Amino acid sequence: MVGRQALRLREKSRDREYSAPRFYEIAFELNRKSEVDFLVHCFKRFSRRPVRRVVDIACGTGPHLMRLADRGYEMSGLDLSPRNIQFLRERLARKGHKGELVVGDMSDFRLARPVDAAICMQDSQGHLLKTEQLVAHLQAVGRCLKRGGLYVFDRYMVSSWTNPARRWTWSKRRGRLIVRASFSALNDVDPVSQVFRERMTLEAIENGTRRLYRQTHLSRMIFPQELKTVVELAGGFEFVQWFFGFKPHQVLERSRHPIIMVVVLRKK
Ligand SMILES: C[S@@+](CC[C@H](N)C(=O)[O-])C[C@H]1O[C@@H](n2cnc3c(N)ncnc32)[C@H](O)[C@@H]1O
Repeated sequence: MVGRQALRLREKSRDREYSAPRFYEIAFELNRKSEVDFLVHCFKRFSRRPVRRVVDIACGTGPHLMRLADRGYEMSGLDLSPRNIQFLRERLARKGHKGELVVGDMSDFRLARPVDAAICMQDSQGHLLKTEQLVAHLQAVGRCLKRGGLYVFDRYMVSSWTNPARRWTWSKRRGRLIVRASFSALNDVDPVSQVFRERMTLEAIENGTRRLYRQTHLSRMIFPQELKTVVELAGGFEFVQWFFGFKPHQVLERSRHPIIMVVVLRKK
């Protein structure tokens, strides 16, 4: 059961979370191009203002941020992990891109300059375990967005109650480095708090040396109608559309057994 004790443990282990950015970046280099294509489609189709400046919230090692910068967007990034931000700073500099990168909490942040769009990818909002944090987060995003600008994010969904947990394993190679990854979500779901465990293992093999990185953290699921209510509660946004996955034609209502919802909000 996920309860108070687990929440305390989470606080303690927070500084160790996402502390292997080099391996994470290689392992999770998955469908990023098509996700970024979808984001750009949303910016063009749904924004009421030209999108030039974008903030990537919980940007991690920057898979979306880097690609958007490559496509000419002025990027900012926010993440709780100082290691991720340092890793991304070096990544941006290597490509000659500039950007405001901030270590901070997505439920309470401000940016030096307002943006035309915000994104939050790979269910990163799930790290906010309480509704109040999610409301505060939406209000913080609203404060940094210009009127008519967009907020696009994805959230996992439960597609089965008999066995909600899902597990993936895969390998990626870059040069001499091989990263074997396994990731599982929706473990030990607490039906009341909607909090569950995610487990990630990255095994890196390079020049005959093996390194193992393990992380377990809590995440919270949200249901579509609940999400709409939370958005209403936070205020400042109009609901635009939601999709199953990163496919512009696949509206959530017409999807069978969706496992990810991608939500588009617009700042009023
Ligand atoms: C699943 S990773 C996703 C990273 C990136 N968006 C991607 O698509 O690869 C979640 C990220 O959220 C960050 N994070 C967790 N809690 C956060 C918080 N309260 N505020 C900001 N970032 C947070 C973690 O450091 C991690 O980089």
